[in-house]
This record gives sequence, structure tokens and C-alpha cells, in this order.
Amino acid sequence: MATSCSTSLLVFLFAIFSTLTCCSVASNEFQVGDSNGWAVPPQNDTNFYNEWASHNRFHAGDTLWFKYKKDSVMEVDEGDYTHCNATHPKLFSNSGNTKLKLGHPGTFYFMSGASGHCEVGQKMIVRVMVDESLPQHAKSSGYHIAISPTGLSQVLFFQFLLASFLGSLSN
Ligand SMILES: *[C@@H]1O[C@H](CO)[C@@H](O)[C@H](O)[C@H]1NC(C)=O
Ligand SMILES: *[C@@H]1O[C@H](CO)[C@@H](O)[C@H](O)[C@H]1NC(C)=O
Repeated sequence: MATSCSTSLLVFLFAIFSTLTCCSVASNEFQVGDSNGWAVPPQNDTNFYNEWASHNRFHAGDTLWFKYKKDSVMEVDEGDYTHCNATHPKLFSNSGNTKLKLGHPGTFYFMSGASGHCEVGQKMIVRVMVDESLPQHAKSSGYHIAISPTGLSQVLFFQFLLASFLGSLSN
């Protein structure tokens, strides 16, 4: 009895932990370029960052993490992106470690502010999806549903464990 009780307690704590974990990672952080970071792409690979972006799905609330050395990152409009015009960015950072939250669905344009880097492909278009998994009425009434289908099954699992734990206590 004592053993099964402490086992249940462990499972119970694990369930709480995984439930918390499930719902706090509702938004993701993406390291731009993965291990390459934010740098001049390999020679002739001018589409490097757009390919990286096309392999990911971005949602409102996700964060882009730019890691770089002796470089910078700018958010610009479409025209400046196309022409690598760095004269009036919407946002500029050269801290080497820039985290930008994608606050809303839409298209975002980024480029390096270092001279000549954008021209050889250190630029990127990021499209942030409208989250289709939210029911229409939930969107319009401003609800935030933090529980994904996986999260929901974890919550049900958690309730099941809680019930077994309380059951084992009353034995
Ligand atoms: C890059 O492109 C140029 C011109 O097309 C070519 O001469 C060069 O060999 C290419 N370099 C690489 C590494 O593919
Ligand atoms: C960059 O944009 C500014 C403002 O729109 C413009 O005056 C300038 O000529 C542009 N520079 C280049 C190189 O296109």
C-alpha cells in the first residue's frame, strides 16, 4: 500500500509537470538558419533563408531567434527587401542575439544590415499563418484556446491519474 501510494504520487507529479509543459509551449521559438545562424549564406545559395523559412510553419506568438556575429538584422517592407535597401528599417538590431516575436498573421521581411550581405542572400520572407485550428466564434470573441488536441488528451490523462491517485489514498 505504501509503495503503490508513493508510485502514484510520482506519476501524479509527473502528470502535473507534463500538463504544465504542454500548455506553456503553445508558441515556439525558431533559431533562424538552425545551426548556421544568421550569416552570409553559402556561396550561390541566395535562397538559403527562404528555404529554411519554407520548411517551418510559423504562427502568431512564435519567436524568431537570430544569432550572429558582426552583423545585424532588420525588419523592412517588401520594396526594401527586394532592393536590399537598408536606409529605413522598421526595426533594427545588432546585439548579436535578437529575438523577435511574430505578433500577428501576415508576411514579414528581414534582411541583414551589413553592407553587401543582403545582396548575396542574407534575407528572408516569413509568412505567419492564420491559425485555422481555432473555431471561428472563438477567434471573433477574442478567446485564446491554449489547449491543442494533444494538450487536451494530456489533461484527460492527468484527470485519470488524479482520480487513480485519490483512489489509492482512500484504499
Ligand atoms: C557560383 O556561381 C558562379 C557563377 O555562376 C560560378 O562561377 C561559381 O563556380 C559558383 N560557385 C559555387 C561554389 O557554386
Ligand atoms: C532606399 O529607399 C529610400 C527611401 O524610399 C530611397 O530614397 C533610396 O533611394 C533607396 N535607395 C536605394 C539604393 O534604392
